[in-house]
Amino acid sequence: MTKLGLASTAPLSGDNSTLAFDVERVRKDFPVLAEHVHGKPLVYLDSGASAQKPTSVLEAMDEVYRTSYANVHRGAYYFSQHLTERYEGVRTKVASFLNAASDQEIVFTRNATEAINLVAHSFGNRLQPGDEVIISEMEHHANIVPWQLLRDRTGINLKVVPVADDGSFRLAAYEALLGPRTRLVAITHTSNVLGTVTPMKEIVRLAHKAGARVLVDGAQAVVHGKVDVRDLDADFYAFTGHKLYGPTAIGVLYGKAELLKDMPPFLGGGDMIRMVSFAGTTYADPPHRFEAGTPPIVEAIGLGAAIDYVNAIGQDAIAAHEAGLLAYATDRLLQVEGLSIVGTAKEKASIVSFMLDGIHPHDVGTIVDREGVAIRVGHHCAQPLMERFGVPATARASMGLYNTRAEIDVLAEALEKVKEIFG
Ligand code: ALA
Repeated sequence: MTKLGLASTAPLSGDNSTLAFDVERVRKDFPVLAEHVHGKPLVYLDSGASAQKPTSVLEAMDEVYRTSYANVHRGAYYFSQHLTERYEGVRTKVASFLNAASDQEIVFTRNATEAINLVAHSFGNRLQPGDEVIISEMEHHANIVPWQLLRDRTGINLKVVPVADDGSFRLAAYEALLGPRTRLVAITHTSNVLGTVTPMKEIVRLAHKAGARVLVDGAQAVVHGKVDVRDLDADFYAFTGHKLYGPTAIGVLYGKAELLKDMPPFLGGGDMIRMVSFAGTTYADPPHRFEAGTPPIVEAIGLGAAIDYVNAIGQDAIAAHEAGLLAYATDRLLQVEGLSIVGTAKEKASIVSFMLDGIHPHDVGTIVDREGVAIRVGHHCAQPLMERFGVPATARASMGLYNTRAEIDVLAEALEKVKEIFG
């Protein structure tokens, strides 16, 4: 299996398809890609914000609501039991997708943000004043704010690993921040702005050597290549379904069983208890201890279908296709005079943030939209990173398994129009 990070080293071949991967065939699986915007064919280059959904995901969810819907874990009747089995079956699928040691290590959440907040509460609340949590300058707000809230609750110190000028992770600076009070390292596996793939195996190894645990924000990572939590030796790994071609409102927290078993609940309610009385309540074992209330049942089924879809295409094939796209996009966009790329680390996923000289990214986004091109512009929920690079915002093209080189050309041509308009 291709490990995350190898994608950028794959060769750039001359067309969009290989024997193993036919992008035109893949595109037919995504009905929305046939849509037009402002009379132009949709060019969707914002999968980093949220990916489009294949028919198999849409149908799996629709089929449950139409033919077999009920609540899970509650009913003695067929529909409830049957759907409970399917829902729990997705947990098994996710465990295998991440190569977790058991289903008990997979907690369903609403999204990656909630998964990180869960750890900040259930693991973090036990930290003592003066204990340290290390994050990095390239974190998404979802992996900054929960730790600031924890700092307010407990008096921990938050330390920040700086980012190198090319957007790569500064391993030596990180190592220097590790110390006897470091309890947790919370770092992204792939930056949503820079595309940088961080050297996670080494980050984990060094943290463990210092006696700290590691939470990996994998929201942008699982979509681009194979992630193996046991190979990484990650203690916690968070990701979300909607970037993985699945539905919104379903996320995953992987946690090592030995850690989850000692962690108190995050939210209280039904489905997470063993016994409730007014005198006191005991809690279910993980993962259900962390899944209060009616869970995202149908969303989990959708996530299962998305994982099946990705597995059927093959994560190696996806990584190779996206490596080709990244190389092509980097080359092609740099041909646009005045364009500079923010984030040029060697290990990159198919995300390209850029600036056009003298033109605000919001104007870039608005004008390329008229050509049917959807890119994200703004701070990308990473304001400290914008500050680090001295920009108010960037424009960002993030590519998924269904994108083509022809679409990159459309973006590049649209950028030429932006330049014409702004003279
Ligand atoms: N975190 C998502 C992005 O990078 C929303 O666009």
